[in-house]
Amino acid sequence: MIFVPESILVTGGAGFIGSNFIHSFMANNQRCMVTNLDCLTYAGNLENLTALEGNPNYRFVKGDIGDTELVAGVLAGQKIDAVVHFAAESHVDRSITGPEIFIRTNVLGTQILLEESRKHWQSGLVPDFRFLQISTDEVYGSLGDTGYFTEETPLAANSPYSASKAGADLLVRAYHETFGMPTLNTRCSNNYGPYHFPEKLIPLLIHNIINKKPLPVYGDGLNVRDWLHVRDHASAIETVLKAAAPGSVYNIGGNNEWKNIDIVNLVCDLLDERLERAEGENRTLITYVKDRPGHDRRYAIDASRLKNDLGWSPSFTFEQGIAETIDWYLANQKWVEEVTSGAYRDYYKKQYGGGAA
Ligand code: NAD
Ligand code: TYD
Repeated sequence: MIFVPESILVTGGAGFIGSNFIHSFMANNQRCMVTNLDCLTYAGNLENLTALEGNPNYRFVKGDIGDTELVAGVLAGQKIDAVVHFAAESHVDRSITGPEIFIRTNVLGTQILLEESRKHWQSGLVPDFRFLQISTDEVYGSLGDTGYFTEETPLAANSPYSASKAGADLLVRAYHETFGMPTLNTRCSNNYGPYHFPEKLIPLLIHNIINKKPLPVYGDGLNVRDWLHVRDHASAIETVLKAAAPGSVYNIGGNNEWKNIDIVNLVCDLLDERLERAEGENRTLITYVKDRPGHDRRYAIDASRLKNDLGWSPSFTFEQGIAETIDWYLANQKWVEEVTSGAYRDYYKKQYGGGAA
């Protein structure tokens, strides 16, 4: 049976995937109210959502998922019937230099959101309810040269980031098993696309190439990631939210494995053309650097459950997706400049008044 939400709470909707999800979900579900709860960390940027200003079905609330009273008020006040939970600290390298905030946001914050959602769901204010936890393939740990993560692969997280996401996933499972709460859990591979903060590999490469800065490649550059366009991720989430059975877990993947160095070379070459530089010029910026500690060697997703149960598969080819992404960054240099200079932080004050984000 299809679940049709009427009022969803998106957490972390000012971030990369959350903002792409809001755009795509609102375009497909024009009657649904969307409340975006985001505390605007360095990764939250309301400029990603300017197109929705004035839309009566969209509402932004600045706040922390760990704020019990605020969360309870939003859930009841907006009669939320689905929570789509993106809010997180999301960068592996930051989790190595400062793990505490990852535990606070990703584990404790998720537990508070779950607990308030449980009370709200059990209050009977809404006829049906879903809690969808957005997670990552990184919870499964690392693969060798062959094989794929399935939903049955044991969790074996290796970084503080992935450990915090695994902790949250287990809490979500526990709320389903213990309280019968209608939870869902998706685990996705590496996303790419517009509004990606330029600390992550692909936007960092584009930004550094444009500015002729070194391109840091960790270790031997042979680590493998599976890349999925963020709008494909958004459509998969919408499919799971509406059609998956409560309690289920779904992997989401692009069937698109790349060695890091091959992606680096590809982005260099595509930008040689677009920036009218000599063939091979951008590759001279490649700089091998010390490896990330605990660097997972390979991620690869078996997403056949999603295809077989719910009929979902990605629609972007990588050639199309990466070309569009590069063109988006070239056309949106102002967005990139504001993010890298931190100027986007004034945006909340300008739009909503009050304190700086
Ligand atoms: P992001 O870092 O771009 O955005 C995170 C958002 O959460 C930001 O807007 C931030 O302000 C907000 N936030 C952080 N702490 C908060 C708190 N305590 N309360 C309210 N808001 C808070 O992250 P992203 O890349 O968009 O990832 C979104 C989700 O998807 C995360 O849960 C991440 O683990 C998961 N995921 C990401 C990828 C990827 O490739 N980026 C892949 C798989 C899964
Ligand atoms: P990243 O975008 O940080 O995603 P994740 O670590 O969650 O997979 O990194 C993708 C891959 O690229 C990962 O193997 C680490 C590597 N990497 C570099 O080689 N250089 C860089 O500057 C960054 C940010 C990542």
